[in-house]
Amino acid sequence: MTTSHIDVPGTRRLAPAPGELPADERLSRDELQARQLERLQWTLRHAYAHVPFYRQVFDAAGVHPDDCRELADLRKFPTTTKHDLRDNYPFGMFAVPQERLRRLHASSGTTGKPTVVGYTQGDLDVWSAVMARSIFAAGGRPGHKVHVAFGYGLFTGGLGAHYGAERLGCTVIPASGGMTARQVQLVTDLQPEVIMVTPSYMLTILDEFERQGVDARASSLRVGIFGAEPWTEQMRLEIEDRMDLDAVDIYGLSEVIGPGVAQECAETKDGLTVWEDHFYPEIIDPADGRVLPDGETGELALTSLTKEAMPVIRYRTRDLTALRPGTARPAFRRMDRVTGRSDDMIILRGVNVFPTQIEEIVLVTDGVAPHFQLRLTRQDRMDELTVLVEARTDTPAGRRDSAATEIASRVKDGVGINVAVEVVDPETLERSVGKMRRVIDQRPR
Ligand code: DLL
Repeated sequence: MTTSHIDVPGTRRLAPAPGELPADERLSRDELQARQLERLQWTLRHAYAHVPFYRQVFDAAGVHPDDCRELADLRKFPTTTKHDLRDNYPFGMFAVPQERLRRLHASSGTTGKPTVVGYTQGDLDVWSAVMARSIFAAGGRPGHKVHVAFGYGLFTGGLGAHYGAERLGCTVIPASGGMTARQVQLVTDLQPEVIMVTPSYMLTILDEFERQGVDARASSLRVGIFGAEPWTEQMRLEIEDRMDLDAVDIYGLSEVIGPGVAQECAETKDGLTVWEDHFYPEIIDPADGRVLPDGETGELALTSLTKEAMPVIRYRTRDLTALRPGTARPAFRRMDRVTGRSDDMIILRGVNVFPTQIEEIVLVTDGVAPHFQLRLTRQDRMDELTVLVEARTDTPAGRRDSAATEIASRVKDGVGINVAVEVVDPETLERSVGKMRRVIDQRPR
């Protein structure tokens, strides 16, 4: 695409000028690692002293915070899972007295109880700082207007983005999710340069631009910061084609802080820079828990380095990615785009399938919209997968059948499984304002 730099129309977005980056982002790798070690030792001592759960599991594993003399020693410590957080619901993982908590958030979770997370004032400051960094890395600058269409509330997306944008010196438009017609009106009338939203809801907003006959390419938006759910390179291309902006990826999770753990830099668009001075990443083999070397794909485990209220040690995110050397911020490693969660993976007759693989195919098929769902059913003890995908409004009836056949054959060739494909009427699949629910599992338990 021909992107326009905000200050210099007609050129690609430029890297920040030397001196424009704060000292924290200009550290050498050695300086960063020294800081990480000091913070890691503090975190381990803090967790051991104040969270009975951590004391118990460290003791059971025969490790003590004093055993951490270098960063690699972290692998001697046990990992933490979502299960552990659930078992200690709601406040058992907190390391500070309740009076020091300034905020609680919760992640919905698809089963059972949510996970409650807490923040001290110091934690909220760190969170705003890493979000401000993220918005800057995406191309946002002080003075920009930032339209936040992540949901506000217990979900960390809205408020996380909000405080970060204010910290950077931007003007926030706290639109939250929903009321799509109004989103288009707000963008048109208030002229924000930056939008922060889930990629699936961005597509819904784009459809609404089309429905209203408003040209999205002529909008004021130049930076799109998308995350909270997996999305693909194809989706980036589609969004950048339909709007004149740079679409970049933001990653995070409530258990670790919320959005702002890692952010893709606009000048490189080559994966997400992990803000390693606050969150220490490891890649773990999901099968045996071994730490994998940089470059290999596995499950991301994160250790908070500065969190006071709820430190997490080697938290197993279930997100699959790999670590790579830094580029735009040389000292900070990058992570690959998260294309799936180990628990989102469908195993269909022995073949591993991620919703993003289907998304790539849907996006290159003419006549269908990028809105799809995967329905799992069971027939005579055999699992069946149906891809439900919406037709575009202008797709002739005859094209629907041929699009369905094309998708089925691309899935067969590319993924190696037989699927049924139904092309359904536009706007009939359930829209989610927050995250798109890709997999509907209707198999009997
Ligand atoms: O989704 C925090 C967030 C808000 C991130 C806004 C980015 C933007 P949770 O609701 O706790 O927190 O869900 C965290 O969402 O473990 C991933 O599986 C998924 N996820 C988040 N960002 C991405 C991304 C927020 N960029 C879970 N790509 C994580 C893929 C993502 N998956």
